[in-house]
Amino acid sequence: MQDPGIEKLVEKAMSVHRNSYAPYSNVHVAAAVEADDGTVYTGVNVENASYGLTICAERAAVAAMVAAGRRRIARVAIVADTPEPLPPCGACRQVLAEFGDPETLVVSVSTKTGRRRSWRLGELLPYAFTASHIEENRGSDAAP
Ligand code: THU
Repeated sequence: MQDPGIEKLVEKAMSVHRNSYAPYSNVHVAAAVEADDGTVYTGVNVENASYGLTICAERAAVAAMVAAGRRRIARVAIVADTPEPLPPCGACRQVLAEFGDPETLVVSVSTKTGRRRSWRLGELLPYAFTASHIEENRGSDAAP
C-alpha cells in the first residue's frame, strides 16, 4: 500500500474510467493529474474514426489542468483495462515533462489484474527536451 495521497489520485482516475471513448482499440484509459496546489484534473482517451486524431487520457487531463490555470504537475495516476499497467506513450511523456519535473511520480494501475507500476518521469523520459533547450534562440530569428 502506497501513501494515501496516491491512492486518492488513482481513485479519481478510476471514477472517470467508464467515460473513456475507445470503440476502436477497446483500450480504455483514464488519467488523473495532481497540480502543485493539490487540485486534481482528470481525462480519458477519446478515439476517432480517423484513428490518428485520438487523444490520450494523460494529455486530456493535462489540458484540463492548464485550462483551470495550473501549470505544475505534482503526480500522475493512470488506469487502464489492459492486463499490465499502461505506461504513458512517448507523446504523453513529452507533454508531462512540459509541466512536471524528473521527480514527478507516475503511477499506473490495471483495472483488470490490479497490477501496478510506478516510475519517476525522469526514468520514463531521460534527456527530456524542454524550454531550457530553446531559450537562447528565442527572439533571435532575425532576417539574414
Ligand atoms: N492511450 C492513452 O490514453 N494513453 C497512453 O499513454 C497510451 C495510449 C490510448 C490511446 C488509444 O485510445 C488507446 O490507448 C490504445 O492505444
